[in-house]
This record gives sequence, structure tokens and C-alpha cells, in this order.
Amino acid sequence: MAAPFTSQQTYIDEFDPRDYFQTYYAAKGGVLVGEWTEFVIRNLYETFTKGGVRGDTLLDIGTGPTIYHLLSACEVFDKIIVSDFLEQNRAEIQKWLKKDPDALDWTHIIKFVCELEGNGEDYNKKAEKLRSKVKEVLKCDALKRKPFDPVVVPPVDCLISCLCLEAPCKDIKSYCEALKNLKDLVKPGGRLLILSVLNATFYNVGKKYFASMTTKKEELEAAFKEAGYEIEKSVYAPRIDKSKMDVADYGDYYFILARKPK
Ligand SMILES: C[S@@+](CC[C@H](N)C(=O)[O-])C[C@H]1O[C@@H](n2cnc3c(N)ncnc32)[C@H](O)[C@@H]1O
Repeated sequence: MAAPFTSQQTYIDEFDPRDYFQTYYAAKGGVLVGEWTEFVIRNLYETFTKGGVRGDTLLDIGTGPTIYHLLSACEVFDKIIVSDFLEQNRAEIQKWLKKDPDALDWTHIIKFVCELEGNGEDYNKKAEKLRSKVKEVLKCDALKRKPFDPVVVPPVDCLISCLCLEAPCKDIKSYCEALKNLKDLVKPGGRLLILSVLNATFYNVGKKYFASMTTKKEELEAAFKEAGYEIEKSVYAPRIDKSKMDVADYGDYYFILARKPK
């Protein structure tokens, strides 16, 4: 059921952020709620606490309409910049930031993060804290040499991206080029955090199919090295629940923490 490569125009015309949320992050039946969200949230919690990754600014590439991966980060960064290629995704994020009554409801995920962090009662405060830290919602294109051109984004302490690069990149060569494009956005000595899935060929949003670049652990890690990063930590975990393979056929989850050399 592999889809052909998805063009940028198809993303513009057909990616519906509300269908995306409903399919993947809805409290009831969201395909990524559970295994994926817990993998991300636990690895990031550890990275930002014991792992000591922190700083002034965190930049998120390909945020989509989502916030789940920023909930622990807002405790250790003064400023968060989110970004996506699509206007409709940026509009959903703005709705959440402005507490629009029509905004996507992330309460179930926010509660999970608060429980992990040991303050289960304070989920409204957590949402407010994240809102107060998100200072910009920008357009980006990870395939461009300068992803934010013409906007200038000063190099950041930490760049994060979840489930994004496999969307616009055709193959591992183009993924490696995208990693190189992102490198200028990170300060020397700063961190890159990429979390995504291996062995996927497609994911479904509503009734639409979107292609995913298929990759394996060895070629993935080689791409980080070739792009000039030092891998500090990598974690892989198998997909256990395979009941929704017809919705998205990803295999293992991956987390890579890399450093841009000084
Ligand atoms: C599978 S979604 C992931 C969204 C979110 N980060 C998450 O974890 O659920 C892929 C995202 O990549 C974005 N995207 C597609 N092409 C892009 C590009 N060239 N540059 C940056 N983001 C892009 C899409 O708009 C979409 O938000």
C-alpha cells in the first residue's frame, strides 16, 4: 500500500491538521497515543532533566499542529520557536496558543507529562507555561538551504524535530542534506534532537495517503555522521501494537541526540 512520493503541493492542498490530530493524537483511538507519545515524552523528560540539555532557545522544525513534544522542554528553555511548512498547521498552533475554543484538545497528553514530572494536579499551569514560552510560529522548509529564508533565525542551543524529515525527504541522501540545512540553525556545541520512525512507507491522514521515507538504523546514523554531527545517544524501540498498520505502516521508534561540534 506504499504511496508515491508526496509533493509539497499535495501537502499544501491535502494535509488536514484536524484529521491528522484525530487520526494520531485523539484521546480515544489516536494511533500514536500510547507507544509513540510515551516514547517521545519519556526520552525528552530524561534528556531535559538528567541529560542536562537546556538553554536559551529551542527551535522545533515541522511542528505540525502538535505540542506534545514541547511540554517538558518548556521547563528548561526560556524561549521556544515552532515552525511548519504549512499555513494550516501554523494556524492550528496559533489557535492553541490563543486558547481558541476550537483549538485541538491536548489535555490527555498534558496530564501524562505532568504525572511523569510529579505534579499531576497542575496541568492547566503546564499548558500556560508552554504558551508563555512559545514566542514565534514561523514558516519553514527543511529542504531549503536556509529553511527560514527570508527570516533570519539566530543559531539556537537546541533544535528538535519529530516525525518530520521523513515527510519531505525522498531518500536518505535528501535526509542527510536536510540535516546539513539544519546545522546552520544550531550553535556550535548545540544539540539536535530527532525523533521519528524507521521502516515506514506511508501514513494516512483522514482518507489521504502520504509517503514516508523508509530508513534503517545503520543508514540513519551514518547520515548524521556525514552531515557533521556527533551522535551522543540513540534509543530504538519496537512498535508493539500493529493493529493499525493499514493507517500507518511504521516499524521501530527512534530518538537521536546529536551535537554540532564546536
Ligand atoms: C507527520 S507530520 C509530523 C507533525 C508533528 N511534528 C508530529 O510529531 O506529529 C509531518 C510534518 O512535516 C511537515 N512538513 C512537510 N514538508 C515539510 C518541509 N519541507 N519542511 C518542514 N516541514 C515539512 C508537514 O507539514 C507536517 O506538519
